[in-house]
Amino acid sequence: MARPPHSVVQRVARLRKELNEHDYRYYVLAEPVIADEEYDNLMQELLNLEKQYPDLHSPDSPTQRVGGQPTKEFATVRHDPPMLSLANSYSEEEIREFDRRVRNLLEDQKPEYVAELKFDGVALALRYRDGVFVQGATRGDGSQGDDITHNLKTIRSIPLRLRTSNPAFMNIEVRAEAFMHKKEFEEMNKQRTAASEKTFINPRNATAGTLKLQDPRIVAARPIRVYSYALFAPGAKLRSHFENLQTLSRLGLPVNEHVRKYSTIDEVISFWKMWGEKRDSLPYDIDGVVVKVNSLSHQNVLGSISKSPRWAIAFKFSSRKAETVLKNIILQVGRVGTITPVADLEPVFVGGTTVSRASLYNIDYINELDLRIGDTVIVEKGGDVIPKVTGFVEGNRPQGARRYEMPSACPQCDSPIYRPEDEVNYYCENSECPAQVRARIEHFAQRSAMDIEGLGEAVVDQLVGLELVKNYSDLYSLHKRRNTLVELDRWGEKSTQNLLDAIEVSKKQPFYRVLHALGIRHVGASVAQLLAGTFSSIKEIQVATQDDLESVPGVGPRIAESIVHFFGEKHNREIIKKLEAAGLTLTSASPKRKGVLEGKTFVLTGTLPTYSREEARSLIEGNGGKVVATVSKNVHYVLVGGGAGSKLAKARSLSIPTITEEDFRKMIR
Ligand code: IVH
Repeated sequence: MARPPHSVVQRVARLRKELNEHDYRYYVLAEPVIADEEYDNLMQELLNLEKQYPDLHSPDSPTQRVGGQPTKEFATVRHDPPMLSLANSYSEEEIREFDRRVRNLLEDQKPEYVAELKFDGVALALRYRDGVFVQGATRGDGSQGDDITHNLKTIRSIPLRLRTSNPAFMNIEVRAEAFMHKKEFEEMNKQRTAASEKTFINPRNATAGTLKLQDPRIVAARPIRVYSYALFAPGAKLRSHFENLQTLSRLGLPVNEHVRKYSTIDEVISFWKMWGEKRDSLPYDIDGVVVKVNSLSHQNVLGSISKSPRWAIAFKFSSRKAETVLKNIILQVGRVGTITPVADLEPVFVGGTTVSRASLYNIDYINELDLRIGDTVIVEKGGDVIPKVTGFVEGNRPQGARRYEMPSACPQCDSPIYRPEDEVNYYCENSECPAQVRARIEHFAQRSAMDIEGLGEAVVDQLVGLELVKNYSDLYSLHKRRNTLVELDRWGEKSTQNLLDAIEVSKKQPFYRVLHALGIRHVGASVAQLLAGTFSSIKEIQVATQDDLESVPGVGPRIAESIVHFFGEKHNREIIKKLEAAGLTLTSASPKRKGVLEGKTFVLTGTLPTYSREEARSLIEGNGGKVVATVSKNVHYVLVGGGAGSKLAKARSLSIPTITEEDFRKMIR
């Protein structure tokens, strides 16, 4: 193996320092200074160098964040000290009782309290040796848990190296909570739904499930964050919990900003009340506050009883869960035939609103929770999270309640339904199914697509029911049926004119909105924008191959396949012809090529396994990069094929990263 030249060693050290600094700024301080793309480029460069010079491997390199090889089983870690749990309290009375007990035990000394948020996540133990993150584990039973170090290394807010050179803080034990932001969780679930993958129940379940995965590369792609809340540093003289939190923060660990020090229990109660009201404004879920006695010598005096410390207590908010009866499971048919089971619930007041419907996502979700019609189920509602059925109450199941099974026919049109092999959804086979037709038109007209005011569910039902509209292109010839519309039940001159006007106005909607409105499976608003930013017209997309489509950053095989399939259907091509004739915008105002290689200069050398020179050049240029003939310091990458000679040698001597066709393909994905 080639020994790394000094310049490479230096470059690698520099890249690691920069990337660690960016992680810290972004994930701990929440003050990012570079664009994601720039970050990705630095990471790619470091990955390339480490691949080329395996001697440079280091356990605290930011490349560890990308996720290593899967493990078969997690080793067991003994916790030192053990991970205690907290006693719970729910009322002012109970918290005053806690305060009285503390003051009694401390006799004449007055306690000071630290009040913190209680994050609704997963407890972690993190171990640092010589300043480097060496081991991380789940809580398990409190005395031992699972070694999930590889998964935790992918979490950017956990520093791989502490920001200290003080020997007293090089060997420490940190306790922390892993969690997800509500928005990032919702976004992840949305993407999972679009990809026909199982959704998670809530951010906590998603975090717990993710941390138990055997493949850290999957963990790396999930939005897990961490807040640290306890420090053990045997070599240091620690005096108070508050100072410990400040120390954690100085060491580079994320500490939540809403921590307060109080000298009376009344102030603690006000803190609890305030957060009980404001909890929804936080980007993450909390289920209460934690109250801790500040002085460590006081904590020592107070000690613990049966796995819970006497110096701390969880002061929880009243729950936003409710119990109600699952009256029925209704099947809704979506625009591409997706059949979604929905819970029909006995109306119940939870988290400020009355809930009578909740999505059950798919058959796997129902089976996993083992929900049966007639069950008393638990309905949960978090901040801006939609109500969810998260389980059933054991002991309340009606006799003879059977496991739910999908019917074999569509509840709307009686056609057979099927489940593709690797999907969680069932589909109705009949594209003329009235439920699908209605859903496609509703999708087309919705605000984020063509935004046709007045074309809501009831109107679509009426138009489809009377066969005035069979697909969305028919909307643009509705003006010819003006007289029929005016005569319709609940219509008249004014409503008819308003609808026809709104349809006319929609013709001006930009290309990306039309693309979204078409209702191509997996093509939501953001994918539509990517496509409209890359292709100049619908004609270009129509003739694009699977590979062409996949070369658009953000478009994966599933999306590409679905687009090819959509345009492969004659029926769809005819509808598009009609939309074109009606005068809709089917071209981009200014197609901008996404330049993932913007500012990067390449040299090509040797014979590439599949691309010709010309293909490689046009891919580089098409992605905003430049190709030059000679290797110099100004070159960013040398793309190397078989039989490469002097250019490769020169690249090595100048420490310019060399990449294979495979590496290059990944770069432009
Ligand atoms: S302190 C001995 N502080 O709540 C005290 N715990 O049973 C140990 N939690 O799962 C816990 N936020 O992970 C503490 N600010 C916070 C916390 C917190 C959430 C979790 C913890 C554990 C449970 C306590």
